[in-house]
Amino acid sequence: MESDKKIAVVDFGGQYSHLIASRVRRLGAYTEILSNEEGMEKYASYSGIILSGGPSSVYEKDSPQIAPEIFQLGIPILGICYGHQLTMKILGGKVESTGESEYGPAEIQILDSNISNLSRSLGRTEKVWMSHGDEVVELPPGFSNIGSTESCQFAMVSNESKKIYGIQFHPEVTHTIHGNTLLSNFIRISGCKDTWNLQEFIQKEMEIIRRQVGERGKVFMLVSGGVDSTVAYLMLAKSLGAQRVKGLLVDTGFMRKNEVSGLRENLHKLGIDLTISDESQVFYNALVAKSDPEEKRLIVGNLFLEAQARAVEELNLDPKEWILGQGTIYPDTIESGGTKHSHKIKTHHNRVPAIQKMLDEGKIIEPLRDLYKDEVRELGNYLGLDTQWTDRHPFPGPGLVVRMIATQREVDPAIEKNIQHFFQKEIPNFICKVLPFPSVGVQGDQRSYANCLLINQFSQDWNLLDKIATSITNKFKEINRIVLLPNNLNSIRFPDSLEYTELHLNKEHSDLLREADCITNQFIFDHKITKDIWQMPVVLVPCGREKGKFSIILRPVESNEAMTANFYPMKWDLLAKLCSEIQTISQISDVFFDLTNKPPGTIEWE
Ligand code: XMP
Repeated sequence: MESDKKIAVVDFGGQYSHLIASRVRRLGAYTEILSNEEGMEKYASYSGIILSGGPSSVYEKDSPQIAPEIFQLGIPILGICYGHQLTMKILGGKVESTGESEYGPAEIQILDSNISNLSRSLGRTEKVWMSHGDEVVELPPGFSNIGSTESCQFAMVSNESKKIYGIQFHPEVTHTIHGNTLLSNFIRISGCKDTWNLQEFIQKEMEIIRRQVGERGKVFMLVSGGVDSTVAYLMLAKSLGAQRVKGLLVDTGFMRKNEVSGLRENLHKLGIDLTISDESQVFYNALVAKSDPEEKRLIVGNLFLEAQARAVEELNLDPKEWILGQGTIYPDTIESGGTKHSHKIKTHHNRVPAIQKMLDEGKIIEPLRDLYKDEVRELGNYLGLDTQWTDRHPFPGPGLVVRMIATQREVDPAIEKNIQHFFQKEIPNFICKVLPFPSVGVQGDQRSYANCLLINQFSQDWNLLDKIATSITNKFKEINRIVLLPNNLNSIRFPDSLEYTELHLNKEHSDLLREADCITNQFIFDHKITKDIWQMPVVLVPCGREKGKFSIILRPVESNEAMTANFYPMKWDLLAKLCSEIQTISQISDVFFDLTNKPPGTIEWE
């Protein structure tokens, strides 16, 4: 990319930076996420800067700040939410907690859409999305008010001559109806209009790949079966020629049903021969007695590397000539601690220490490292993969390993009693049960290990179920997940007890999950809801109504880039039908539906 034609999104620890960055890219300007503690020369290399939202209050001790000199660079700046308040405070305005928070939809009155370049083409009133406690109450010198909502006077402000703007609402969410118009206005103000598109990126990236690999270099790539690594592999093959890129698929035994054969066929059609190495027994042996999420991931990551070393030996590849290709995409690098404010939520299997070492030595090539998922899909289509294949839901590198829960947890009966007591006042037919295994979540941007609560379907109203699930996880810190027992067509009885059943990460038990996962995927495809759902982990958990039986948890979510998510409210008749189909597997006792949003739950169960 031309270095002077890109927009920086400065991350203050909110979940919105990625969303803003990917929206701006979709609108035709290249963006990168930066920390708030970069040197001034770094910020100066951008044509526009967006100061994003964040969870803090600008007056809080230790709240993330930004050096005031940034406002003297002469670069257009747009502050959003926290970024807006911080801008106002630094430049001499006043921010206060007015005691009135504003979350959700609001209407902004634009005073005159001609007075600011930022409000060009906006109507007199616009629907916007608010999410804030504090508010700007006094503008700094040189700023004018452009728009107000009923409860927020300075909802949109500008200093036109300095090209510094502030908005209290979130233009990046679809609830702000003309958010894209506003962001496009900022792109134009920054002089970045039409400076980014995927085709150009591909041409430039191919050049970079050729340069990095050198004239004789070759790339060895582990293909996982997912969209990312396959597209990365194709991209490398197109840049260097298929004979200089060798792909190896390690069959870990934790892949989906028919995944390996399907992938081989797909690539074969594009003239690429994939080597398949069946390592399933090695993985089963190493994982059979394991249950800790991070330990499982580390084992998978290390076994991948060992499998690679073995394959290199078998394929007789000279390590001096070959480097390692990976399908890491942009959000992966950020979530593993890439920017200052994102805590380490999980270890991606492609970021285990051994891989990190190769990366540090420069022996790794990651052609998708700057791309978001939707861009990767588009790139895949451009390179010849069909949409049905690229539109598949994302699947984690460690595969079904993270969807098999093998840990037992003693349940404290007091937790269940307290919750039951608390909610029965409001909902007389409310029943709940703490499940005998732990759940991993993300709360306040940190990992949490807590319990999962099963509740009955006391209502057919998804909104009410959502509200109650959220209030349980808010009120009871011991719980970070809520799953629902749907009332199937023949009205399932809420279990008096659920037995813990020993579960192993072996072939027998992964076959069970493979079958349930296959039924689910076929079902959502047949009912044409695959595209409405962003991702749908199907999870095998160690409990059932009788010893020796397991249960399945369905986790369909709607999400943007996986940073946050809400559960997908499936039509009740479809859900009932799907549950019955899964229950035809004789070792499956029950099917639960995950009602947890992210946060507090992660998308995967781990
Ligand atoms: P979580 O569970 O953190 O997941 O909400 C967010 C996204 O990341 C995927 N995921 C992984 N991908 N290796 C991967 O390659 C992993 O270990 C891993 N864990 C989670 C997950 O499927 C979701 O799309």
